[in-house]
Amino acid sequence: MRLAGKCALITGAARGIGLSFARAYIAEGAQVALADINAAALAQAVADLGPQAHAVQMDVTDQASIEAGIASAVAQMGRLDILVNNAALFDACPITDITRASYDRLFAVNVAGALFTMQAAAKQMIAQGTGGKIINMASQAGRRGESLVAVYCATKAAVISLTQSAGLNLIAHGINVNAIAPGVVDGEHWDHVDALFARYEGRPLGEKKRIVGGGVPFGRMGTADDLIPMAIFLACADSDYCVGQTYGVDGGNWLA
Ligand SMILES: NC(=O)c1ccc[n+]([C@@H]2O[C@H](COP(=O)([O-])OP(=O)(O)OC[C@H]3O[C@@H](n4cnc5c(N)ncnc54)[C@H](O)[C@@H]3O)[C@@H](O)[C@H]2O)c1
Repeated sequence: MRLAGKCALITGAARGIGLSFARAYIAEGAQVALADINAAALAQAVADLGPQAHAVQMDVTDQASIEAGIASAVAQMGRLDILVNNAALFDACPITDITRASYDRLFAVNVAGALFTMQAAAKQMIAQGTGGKIINMASQAGRRGESLVAVYCATKAAVISLTQSAGLNLIAHGINVNAIAPGVVDGEHWDHVDALFARYEGRPLGEKKRIVGGGVPFGRMGTADDLIPMAIFLACADSDYCVGQTYGVDGGNWLA
């Protein structure tokens, strides 16, 4: 039980990777506040996970919603030791088709959402005076450009940079800030990615996913479960000396 007695908040936890992390943290003894904009999926997820799970309806693009969400998590659990900044949006299109609306929305969720949720959580952790753990979800996309994915790549590069600066700033309070950079992780998110590539590359649905999965040096796409050991490591005392790092968990995909 590496997270016994710990209290975590995970954004974007109503499905996908965030939901898997919530289940894993509870199995390690934590209470988890699942924060998401999707109220129906959130209610279902919390009901499935049981009494150690708490629902926090939160829109990470809205400052009042972030602050109310952190306050609600603390009211329900008593404190906050761990934040996983996981909520994010994806979009893909050629440079000539990028719209201001898509750019603004992705930066609002993926970058400003992560930064100001991190800020609100850090204030709570500093007030508690016992340190904390902040884990930002970056991506291999933040380490390189991709032809059809300019805006998402830029948001994840910003997440890697914010992780470095926040890591340096908050370690003085005993708060470790680090990030995970997954490669390609199967799930509803990648079904959306696959549909966008089908449109822009003229492929049948599912083909991009098969090609991308086959190209991973490990031999397959990742799963949310592949990320869990790193998510637990970064949330527990084993990572106390890790500051401002982004750890790739991608089956070798970024190097390939
Ligand atoms: N799936 C992959 O292949 C992959 C690869 C690299 C990185 N990542 C990153 O991992 C994280 C999780 O990915 P996923 O595949 O589980 O994504 P997902 O799309 O399945 O889940 C994202 C969740 O975020 C929530 N959300 C969206 N906007 C929100 C907002 N404004 N406020 C609060 N919640 C909001 C959604 O409702 C959803 O539940 C993301 O940061 C993503 O960029 C994913």
